[in-house]
Amino acid sequence: MCGIVAYTGYREAYPVLLKGLKRLEYRGYDSAGIALLNGDLNVYKKKGKVSDLESHLKETQLHSTIGVGHTRWATHGQPNDVNAHPHYSFNKRLAIIHNGIIENYNVLKQDLTNKGYQFLSETDSEVLVHFIEDVQANSNCSLEEAIRLALHQVVGAYAIVVISKDHPDTLFAARKGSPLVIGVGKGEHFLASDATPIIEYTSDVIYLDDLEIAVITKDKVSIKSLDDVLTTPYVHTLEMELEAIEKNGFDHFMLKEIFEQPKSVKDSMRGRVNAAKGHLLLGGLRDYLNKLVHAQRVVILGCGTSWHAGLVAEYLFEEFARIPVEVEYASEFRYRNPIINEGDVVIAISQSGETADTLAAIELAKSKGAIIFGVCNVVGSSIPRATHAGAYTHAGPEIGVASTKAFTAQVTVLSMMAIIVARAKGTITESQYQELLVEFENIPAKIQRILDKHAQIEYIADIFKDARNFLFLGRGYNFPVALEGALKLKEISYIHAEGYPAAEMKHGPIALIDEEMPVVFIATRDSSYEKIISNIQEVRARKGRVIVVATEGDALVEKMAEFVIEIPHTHEALVPLLSVIPLQILSYHIAVMRGCNVDQPRNLAKSVTVE
Ligand code: G6P
Repeated sequence: MCGIVAYTGYREAYPVLLKGLKRLEYRGYDSAGIALLNGDLNVYKKKGKVSDLESHLKETQLHSTIGVGHTRWATHGQPNDVNAHPHYSFNKRLAIIHNGIIENYNVLKQDLTNKGYQFLSETDSEVLVHFIEDVQANSNCSLEEAIRLALHQVVGAYAIVVISKDHPDTLFAARKGSPLVIGVGKGEHFLASDATPIIEYTSDVIYLDDLEIAVITKDKVSIKSLDDVLTTPYVHTLEMELEAIEKNGFDHFMLKEIFEQPKSVKDSMRGRVNAAKGHLLLGGLRDYLNKLVHAQRVVILGCGTSWHAGLVAEYLFEEFARIPVEVEYASEFRYRNPIINEGDVVIAISQSGETADTLAAIELAKSKGAIIFGVCNVVGSSIPRATHAGAYTHAGPEIGVASTKAFTAQVTVLSMMAIIVARAKGTITESQYQELLVEFENIPAKIQRILDKHAQIEYIADIFKDARNFLFLGRGYNFPVALEGALKLKEISYIHAEGYPAAEMKHGPIALIDEEMPVVFIATRDSSYEKIISNIQEVRARKGRVIVVATEGDALVEKMAEFVIEIPHTHEALVPLLSVIPLQILSYHIAVMRGCNVDQPRNLAKSVTVE
């Protein structure tokens, strides 16, 4: 939510910032802006996409070797030119970019207004930079000290970068709750919300921690805690490849990421599954396996698609490891005074590792004594650093706002976890274990077989692209997949879609069915097959238009459905890894055919770092 990029060094800053903002645009795309320092401190900003800012600045001379850039997802104040970042301080000697929410900005704004400060925008961020100016003026201290003192009085979350006319080669950055990564080059430094704007210049990065302030020049990074204690930063080496964050010939990141799934699922299993040797290992689980084996209950936390992966995990842990599971929306859990007992283990799932609600829910569970296990994709992000142990999903960078490969990677890791725990508990037999290992290794090729049917799914998309509503129905392991299918469609095509357990249809959604209602059934040959066949009949009897995701060679479904998308047979517990793929492809094509911006759907952001 909001992307931050900054540069100080020997290069022209504008192209570095512009390219960085394009890479970060998935975090917000309501407006974009930059500030460049070259004697003067100039701010340029524009409502809309980064490309709108670029066109706006086409004729402008923009020479500078230091600057900051921001792409916004609006929280306080409409998306417009004035509310766009950067914001000047009142005397225009400072400019700020900010990601997060300053919760007490109203109180601060009132005090500053009483002192004669005036504000141009409606944002909390402008209040913060005015406040820093005011603190410096009153305390007669250095800018670094003023930022520190100001932040002590701020309630809320922030990642900020401040640039000052009085410090022509220095960036000041601080964070609490919102991410910031420093890229360490030779004679240059970068700052960004994540590593994607940095990796083409350097793979050495420092993750700024919460409540730290960094003072960065082209040659030096100095980091102190908010309590003014110097820290020794640890320089990590990134393994990310530039190719992983480019479209590589695909029209959209989402399509590229859908097609990457044979590889990303394989990457999630790499070094962890070996059917021939009977091995299934998750290094991060080793020290805490006993906790899970003896867990009285598992509580799973997540938001959006990650929550859906959690629902799949509920079935897995209950079926194989025989542990009761509750799957919670992190946003509800955190405000509910939830009961955490000794012996409960919490699993937090997050692609970005930065979702504010999930982070807060983790902190709450920790304060109640829970052991927290993280399942995250972005290496070095906040959630893996807040958890006791965890496993990365290794899906590679996911840039399309609608999550695809991250979901299948999460389900892969969670399936592995459930099976490891089940084996350690003795709740599955050796033959079940071996069968699952073999099937894990078959999954990537089976995903590829579904991707090869892409054109058939595109054809179905064309027929239903103008539908106003969609229903997605599944049972058992395919119920969370129905939810995920509906979420994908509504996120990117703006068609109203609902996912339901198929049997629940009778308790409401059946009233919606008429000859215009497309109903997507996920009816693979598994333990609830007979039941879902009856549900298909019920929809047909009411003239609903039936599309079925079915197991290859299912002649019965073939007769009943208007359209069938076949997927290969697999172990019932691993079906979500296959059955979700056609739904991703269907949503993608419907959205493209409706002219929607697939990678940047309206109002959404990939990484939701505000609550
Ligand atoms: C946003 C994204 C979703 C994602 C959810 C949770 O809503 O648009 O794709 O599932 O956040 O994000 P996380 O990074 O915690 O998985």
